[in-house]
This record gives sequence, C-alpha cells and structure tokens, in this order.
Amino acid sequence: MADDRFSGNPLRDPNDRRLPRIAGPCVLVMFGVTGDLARKKLMPAVYDLANRGLLPPGFGLVGFARREWADEDFASRVHEAVREYARTPFREEVWRQLSEGIRFVQGNLDEESSYAELAATIDELDQLRGTNGNHAFYLSIPPGLFETVIQNLNRSGLSATDRGGWRRVVIEKPFGHDLSSAKELNQVLSTAFPSKSVFRIDHYLGKETVQNLLALRFANEMFEPVWNNHYVDHVQITMAEDIGVGGRASYYDGIGAARDVIQNHLLQLLALTAMDEPISFDATNLRREKQKVLSAVLPPKRPDLHTARGRYAAGWTGGRHVVGYVEEEGFKATSTTETFAALRVDIDSRRWAGVPFYLRAGKRLPRRVTEIALGFRKAPHLPFTATDTLDLGRNALVMRIQPDEGVTLRFGAKVPGSQMEIRDVNMDFGYGDSFTESSPEAYERLLLDVLLGDPPLFPQQEEVELGWQILDPVLDYWASLKSPPEDYESGTWGPASAHEMIARDGRAWRRP
Ligand code: BG6
Repeated sequence: MADDRFSGNPLRDPNDRRLPRIAGPCVLVMFGVTGDLARKKLMPAVYDLANRGLLPPGFGLVGFARREWADEDFASRVHEAVREYARTPFREEVWRQLSEGIRFVQGNLDEESSYAELAATIDELDQLRGTNGNHAFYLSIPPGLFETVIQNLNRSGLSATDRGGWRRVVIEKPFGHDLSSAKELNQVLSTAFPSKSVFRIDHYLGKETVQNLLALRFANEMFEPVWNNHYVDHVQITMAEDIGVGGRASYYDGIGAARDVIQNHLLQLLALTAMDEPISFDATNLRREKQKVLSAVLPPKRPDLHTARGRYAAGWTGGRHVVGYVEEEGFKATSTTETFAALRVDIDSRRWAGVPFYLRAGKRLPRRVTEIALGFRKAPHLPFTATDTLDLGRNALVMRIQPDEGVTLRFGAKVPGSQMEIRDVNMDFGYGDSFTESSPEAYERLLLDVLLGDPPLFPQQEEVELGWQILDPVLDYWASLKSPPEDYESGTWGPASAHEMIARDGRAWRRP
C-alpha cells in the first residue's frame, strides 16, 4: 500500500529509503579547514552526501581559517580533498552545484571583526542559496580553542536564533581534559547554545559496524540470553593502530591514548556492549541506557595493578623502520604522554558483576584493528578425555569493528579423523561478503545527522562526564608517578606491564 506521506508528489518514490533523510537548506561553517580532519574526512563527507543526493540545492559551505585564501582557493582545496579522499565517484555536475555554494572567510579565531565578516558571508549565502537562516558550526580545531570560538559566536550574535532558522554547533573530542574542564566547557557552551543544539562528535558512533552492535544484540533472539555473567567470562575491547602520531604530535602530546580514544570511543563501545535494551533507539532512550551502564562502571580499584601505559620506541612496522615517540616532531622533552593505555573496569550491576572489561588502545601496534570480544566461560563439564580438548579455548563472539568488518563466532569442532579431537574454529560473517553496498563513512552519517538535527548518535554531557569520572582516577595515578610510560617496541602488542596486568587475572590479550 502506498505511504500517504508521499501521495500527490510524483517525484517521490515511496520505496526510496533516503527520502526522510535528506537534509533541509542550510549553511555549514567549518572552523579549522586547514587541518587533517577537514581535508581527509569532513570535506569528502560533504561531497559524498551531495553525491548521494542527501544535500539540498540550498546548501552552502563556509571555510574559516587564517590563510590568505580567496573563495576559489578554498574551493580548490576542497576539490583536491574530494578527489583524493571521497568514497563515492567524482561527478562533475555534483561538484559544480556544490562548489557554487563554497565561500571562505579569512580570519582569526579570537578576533571579533573576523566573526562580523563571517556573519556577512553567511547572510550572503542565505540570500543567494536560499539556505533559510539555518546554520551549523563545526569546530574542527584544537580543543584549547573551543571556548574562544564559542564565546565569539555568542558575542557576534551568530549563535542567536532571533532572526529565525536553527543554529547547531559540532564539537570534536576530546571534550575537556578531565571532569572539571569538561564541566567548564559545557558551561561556556550553554551560554551560547541550548543543549539540544550541541552535537558532541564521537565518530565511532557513526561507524556502521558500531551501529550493527545494536542490530546484533537487539534484533536477534540468540545472543541476548547469553549476554551476561552466567555465560560471559570477560570482555576485551581493543583499538589498535599501526600508525604513530606522525605530524600530530603537537595535538597528541599532553593528551595521550586514554584521553584521545578511551574516554570517548572505547567507553562508548563498552556502553553499547553492556547496556540494557533501550525502549527505543530515540535519543532519550538510547542515551538513558548508556548513561545507566556508564554510571555503574567502577574505575580501576587498584590503578597500579589494573592499568598499564606505554610509549612506542623505534621498531619495525609493515616492513619499514619507524622512529620512537620521543623522536617525533612536536614532542616535548618533559612529556609523559602515553601512546598505549590499558585498563580493567568492572560494572556494578546484576548482569555484569564479576565480568571484567579490559580496554586497550595503542599506536604503532602490529596492525590496525578495532574489535569487541566476548570471551565465554568454559563448559562446566567436558565428557571427553583431557587430551581430546587440549586445543579447545574459550568460545568467543568477536564484533570486528574495522577494518575487516564483520562478526566471528569461535567454538570447538571435531577434527576429521577416527579420534575425538576438538579444536577451535571460526564461523564468520563479513560485511563485504553479505552486502554489495559499501558502508558510508562515519563522518558522512554524523554530518547528515547534524544537518537533520537528529541526536541519538551524539553523546550528551552526562556521558562525557561519566567518562571522565571513570578515567580521572587513572590519569591522576599516572600523573602522580612523574615518570614517562614504559617503552614498547613499535610493531609489538604494547608494554610488558599490559600483559602482566591481564595475566594477573589468569587471562591473556587476544592477538586479533
Ligand atoms: C581519532 C583519534 O579520534 O581516531 C586518532 O584522535 C585516531 O588518534 C583515530 O587515529 C582513529 O580513527 P579510525 O576511525 O581510523 O579508527
């Protein structure tokens, strides 16, 4: 039966699933357009959305930076970024339409006059492109500058909605560097934008495979019954990268692995893995469940025993020799920044009591892989002789977030032959094998959600604060040591202390 939302409009195909998700007219202002994130992710994502027909004709993109660029110079940077990094094929007509709405404002983040110029440019686009006075501001800038920009948006009237239209602000992570600075930043934000207009980006939530966690857990019957401490022995969440900090040392130094990715990406993965079923996936209900489980997370009781940190030394990855962190450009001699962090947390709830969650993240590890692995308890009784099951490990369910996206179930199977010998085997679902569509990039999804004003995939202040509450005691403990983290050779799975940490519990890290 035809859906009457579309009746009367011959251009609308009721079976086109994109329909409800096309953004309305608006201007997207990007601060920090000379940075890597803008070039590699944000600009290509804007183009990909346009190419998929998800941006309206009334769309404008404004870049703001210190460079002495004209509109055309900025447009040609966007063009280069799109040609190099966009996911979807280049189409001249899409680019032409998009580039007509591209503008550049040369200015300083802390100068009032620059914001007046920005306002004039936005006004011009509103008139010319029919963007209806709807404006989103994307802060892809160093965290130390968030407050300056927010205050200036406020002072210049750019955050005000008294002339109609909506205003939204997108904040990149890390949101603060501890609990009190996160509260302070939120305070500044709230003077300029109501909380419903604040979009805190955690790009992991935009990944298809992360959203698949919700599908796997809540659209199926067979997983939920075993998703608790009766069956699960422990959970490991790994985010391994083979790259170093490269040219990003000036951002990374002083932040480190725990603030950079555990406070946000890994704790979000933990929340989605451990939370109870939300009543629905709308923003309120989803966030409520995530907050509930995060508030039950107990920070490591003994940071000396339940955490580990490391810093990569020179070594080999991918067949080439790489320098250590202390040799990277931008590194400060007094640095105690970790490039690897691991911790064990427990969740104080009926479902998870007694099940440790081990989190680890690091750079210059042997390969790039993010996964969530549930390790199950051993069968309470094995009706085999001991030698039959020598090669039987724990059953495991592994959600492969990236790069080989899919799900693996590991269990014991009989080795062919006349004897009973049981060995671990894998059963695999791979995105690439089951679907022909390629997954949209996380930033495509999240940018679209911002333009649509769709908040479920954006953490709220409460989640950010809970994240810091879990991490602050660990960071304080590490700071109290006043020594640099333990070195690990590039291309290995982190410092010895990380292996000792989990071995103390009689377990070992997975080798993905
Ligand atoms: C970012 C971190 O949030 O995530 C980077 O700041 C990290 O340090 C990056 O390299 C990894 O993202 P992805 O999507 O490649 O796993």
